[in-house]
Amino acid sequence: MGRKALSEHRMNPSLDPERLSDLDSPLRERVRAAVAAYQQRFGVAPELVVCAPGRVNLIGEHTDYNGFPVLPAAIDREIVVAAKLQHEARIDAVSSAESSPARCSLVEPLQPDPPGSWSNYLKAAVQVLLHYVPEPRGACLLVDASLPAGAGLSSSSALVVGTGVALLALHEQFPPRNELAEQFAAAERFVGTLSGGMDQAISLLAEPGTALRIDFFPLRTRVVPFPSGYRIAVCHSLVRAEKSGHARTAYNRRVWECTLGCRTLAMVLGKGRRLPLTRLADACRYEPSWPLSRFVDALAEVVPSRPVSARELAHSLNVSLDELLPPGPPVVPPEEPLPILARVRHVFEEAERVDQAVEALVRGDVEALGRLMEASHASCRDYYEVSCEALEELVACARSAGAIGPRLTGAGFGGATVQLIPEAAVDAFFATLDATFYRKRLPPGADAGPYRFGFVPSSGVRVVAI
Ligand code: GLA
Repeated sequence: MGRKALSEHRMNPSLDPERLSDLDSPLRERVRAAVAAYQQRFGVAPELVVCAPGRVNLIGEHTDYNGFPVLPAAIDREIVVAAKLQHEARIDAVSSAESSPARCSLVEPLQPDPPGSWSNYLKAAVQVLLHYVPEPRGACLLVDASLPAGAGLSSSSALVVGTGVALLALHEQFPPRNELAEQFAAAERFVGTLSGGMDQAISLLAEPGTALRIDFFPLRTRVVPFPSGYRIAVCHSLVRAEKSGHARTAYNRRVWECTLGCRTLAMVLGKGRRLPLTRLADACRYEPSWPLSRFVDALAEVVPSRPVSARELAHSLNVSLDELLPPGPPVVPPEEPLPILARVRHVFEEAERVDQAVEALVRGDVEALGRLMEASHASCRDYYEVSCEALEELVACARSAGAIGPRLTGAGFGGATVQLIPEAAVDAFFATLDATFYRKRLPPGADAGPYRFGFVPSSGVRVVAI
């Protein structure tokens, strides 16, 4: 498990700016387009362009905020941010995906805008800037995306990382990538989601051609080989999962359910005295020889498999509600029954699957990886309840079309699926999926191309000097 030491990975940890000519052709063209758009909009050339990739998670869903590992890879599509300093003491940003500009004053305290406003992502990035540069200069940014938004591919974290790294680079600040991963994960909570650190870490630390096992608290990474001859295919369910909308509320409820599960487990393991567990994974420190399933069994001795309220839990543990609940306002009222045991079961079993998936990739066993990914999907659907009708149909269509390990990826509640496809079968796979899934869900004649694509894992954020 995460208890094993992980080797440091090879990537150059610095963010040293590259030249345009260092980039491969499709990315070079996207950077050129952003430079031209910037010139047209602001009348000058940008000083630099930052490319921050989106991510797909192969396995390890809803494990990160519980302290367990994840296994994502960077997508070869990204948020592109062109940037230049300006005299005004504020950050102005325009985006090809947004009708109105975003603005953030550098002289007033940072205040969140209404939920759903994209300026909150800009403000999250400015928080990181202020951490490194207490009196920063203003800047004008232009944001372009080759990554679909609301597809569960972490376009929002790529936006925060891309704008934040651009602002830092304008101030000649190039902190180590792993330090930034933690900074950006904390800063993105400005948007109101209690998310873990996977999305920011992979956008910063990904290496081409590999997946990355990421452990948290503290952040550690291990490069995991991706099998040659295969592509990762990502398919949008066409149901948008926005970090600022319904998905945020549903996500935060899952975090709360795990917190309650953790605080209950802390009582159970401490035999009446609460152990200082912050996250479910902390339990492993107290019983290092236990297999993960044993923690679920221990919890099942006091928590019924039906939904149970915090009040009822406190009563059966013989503690007051205040002792059970973490400090601060409850996310869900204490009277509301919650399926805590099912959530905790998903987390521990999923953590075990991440270990097994890493081993499968190391020995090049794609079929074993596929079985683990399918088990992950079933658990996300049945125990964690983050799937939806469109995702189920898409997974079924993908399985019939020969996909290996089709499963939802990211937070769920819509968004995309991930699967592996032999390189030679990618076109046929998409043709079948277009006929069985996309044709009846897209307007007649619409191109499904932007919604499903195949790739090999790409690299983390890059700074390009112009
Ligand atoms: C979102 C969050 C991540 C992670 C996933 C679920 O993408 O931002 O931190 O929790 O959901 O695995």
